[in-house]
Amino acid sequence: MNSQWPSLSKEQIFARLREYASEDAEPSSGRLFTIAFESGLDDLKEIALEAFRAFMDKNMLDFTEFPSVIRMERDVVGIATRLMNGDEQVAGTYTFGGTESVFLAVKAARDWFILGRGTITIPELVIPVTAHPCFDKAAEYMGLKVKRVKVDPETLQADVEAVKEAITENTAMVAASAPNWLFGTVDPVKEMAEVAQDGRIWFHVDACVGGFALPFMRKLGEDVPDFDFSVEGVTSISLDPHKYAYAPIGASVVLFRKEYYKMYSQFACLRWPGYPIVNPAVLSSRSAGHLASTWAVLHYLGEEGYLRLTRSIIEARDLISRGVEKLGYRVMGRPTVILAFTSEDLNLFRLSDEMTKRGWYLLPQRGVPEMGIPPSVHLTITPLNRRTCDEMVRDLEECTDLVRRLPPSEAEGLIEGLGLIMRLITPQEFDLASLGALMRELERSLEVYGPALLKALGLKEGLPKEMSTIYQLFNNLPPSVTELLVNYVVIQLFRGAGRPV
Ligand SMILES: Cc1ncc(COP(=O)(O)O)c(C=O)c1O
Repeated sequence: MNSQWPSLSKEQIFARLREYASEDAEPSSGRLFTIAFESGLDDLKEIALEAFRAFMDKNMLDFTEFPSVIRMERDVVGIATRLMNGDEQVAGTYTFGGTESVFLAVKAARDWFILGRGTITIPELVIPVTAHPCFDKAAEYMGLKVKRVKVDPETLQADVEAVKEAITENTAMVAASAPNWLFGTVDPVKEMAEVAQDGRIWFHVDACVGGFALPFMRKLGEDVPDFDFSVEGVTSISLDPHKYAYAPIGASVVLFRKEYYKMYSQFACLRWPGYPIVNPAVLSSRSAGHLASTWAVLHYLGEEGYLRLTRSIIEARDLISRGVEKLGYRVMGRPTVILAFTSEDLNLFRLSDEMTKRGWYLLPQRGVPEMGIPPSVHLTITPLNRRTCDEMVRDLEECTDLVRRLPPSEAEGLIEGLGLIMRLITPQEFDLASLGALMRELERSLEVYGPALLKALGLKEGLPKEMSTIYQLFNNLPPSVTELLVNYVVIQLFRGAGRPV
């Protein structure tokens, strides 16, 4: 029988994997200022790996067969609860990521709302425009409507009045970020909690980024506003060990103020002829390896370790902040572990491309001009960046000069013009009937226009080295159009458009 794919030797396997990774950014290089949360401690990785290996074959699905899962989860949730100033009433769940934690909170809030009311309506979610899209994703999966409200353009914190105005009798959840991913600014949790409490509305604090950083920043003397269970009215909190607790990716926690609230987040099924299913999280089968790694990392570092690492972040952030201000950029709001800067006159997408050419990964952000938020550059700052931040700022200075001298690209004017026209003729949001019609039209025309689109975007040959044109094009189109385009493009990338996979 002809084998569909050949068996490889261990050497061949790792040679191939190394080859696949040859164009990857290197998280341990200290040159990533986005996505990677690097402590810079090699021994920590060893310990995480050893713990993973010891538990990787155990399935969290059946915690009666592997009761270590219960013990490890109880410890991890306990640490998170103490960090968030929770009491013995708090109940939590270990999940595989911030998105999953937010999903569980949204599900709980939705069911609490609907069961409390006893009738079906479309529940609404009120969030600042800066909240992470995992809320939109949860809403899309679970049938809620999202209302994104403006933030103060100076402080980049949620506008409490706007939150108040967006609340209706159908509001099932209000959420705040501590801090948001975009600018690292913390929303006015206390004031928002009061508004939510007035309407007896579930109030979630998304501390996925800050949960394992802000408490240590406060201990080190930083002025951190109250954002956790010490604030009355906070119903649930999400916080991610795989961000600033430096656990390997696949680690988050969601906490509920009372175990009663957690009831609404779980799933149980005894309607099939098999074993009783009780899932505390969204996923069912899960390797216990991630939980074991998280347990190991949290206990290896302890509070002392986190304070030391947080000190490095603060130093790096302050050095970068002074550096970019010296170059004429404006640091936005009051940054915490994330810092963003903007410019009145420089094309930040091109700046980001130039930095990527030098091996630095910064994240350009589109902004929301309608809400007074300009485009910006985002930097996630980690302890490892303390070692590289001076060099990064020096390169930023050179790239700034370079971009200032670059002639405007031909595509720029074209893209802006096209964007303007598209904005005028395309709705920002489609109603269901129009979206259905558009999707049917797409089904007919993608085969013809799809390849041309990929070619026009320069994606025929794989991921382009310069992303600024694509970013600018996407940023100048209405979101509803761009969402369709990016979905198509990503499907093509994974199917192997361009580069052979
Ligand atoms: C504020 C915030 N919330 C939620 C998430 C989602 O987390 P994850 O990517 O772990 O699903 C992120 C991710 O960056 C985030 O920054």
